[in-house]
Amino acid sequence: MYHFDIAAGSKAELYHDLYAALDALTADEPDAIANMANAAALIGQYLPDLNWSGFYRMVGDGLVLGPFQGKAACIRIAVGTGVCGTAAATRQTQRVDDVHAFPGHIACDAASASELVVPIVHEDRLIGVLDLDSPSPGRFDEDDAAGCERLMALLAPRIAAVTG
Ligand code: SME
Repeated sequence: MYHFDIAAGSKAELYHDLYAALDALTADEPDAIANMANAAALIGQYLPDLNWSGFYRMVGDGLVLGPFQGKAACIRIAVGTGVCGTAAATRQTQRVDDVHAFPGHIACDAASASELVVPIVHEDRLIGVLDLDSPSPGRFDEDDAAGCERLMALLAPRIAAVTG
């Protein structure tokens, strides 16, 4: 059993502690699926107010569902489509306060109101994206985007092996 001391005080502390926990969980594990699965679980457990946390992987020329926490979700997303596909196409984090106002948003869970999608790049190759959904509008701010980008920079080389 794993136990992590994750501070619930400030957002800075939360992301600092999450980074340390993700590092400890994945540092010695070469299996990409195991590392994505634990990352999805860790983020889903400790980031408040999420209804979905997980990964889409670049497989061939599209995104395919990876390890996640939440309701069963759409399996394949074309690059350039929806929030995840836009993050993949642009390699830019997508922070969406109101998913219903996002052109082409793909509704996997009707409860989702806002979304954060972070592209995962390793050695200039797009590995996939981290997708976080919240039932609260405007749940994700710039600190969440920066915190999750740091988490994915740590994880990228540890999930690069079997994806792509
Ligand atoms: N809403 C996403 C699809 C994935 S689900 O949220 C898990 C999108 O528009 O890309």
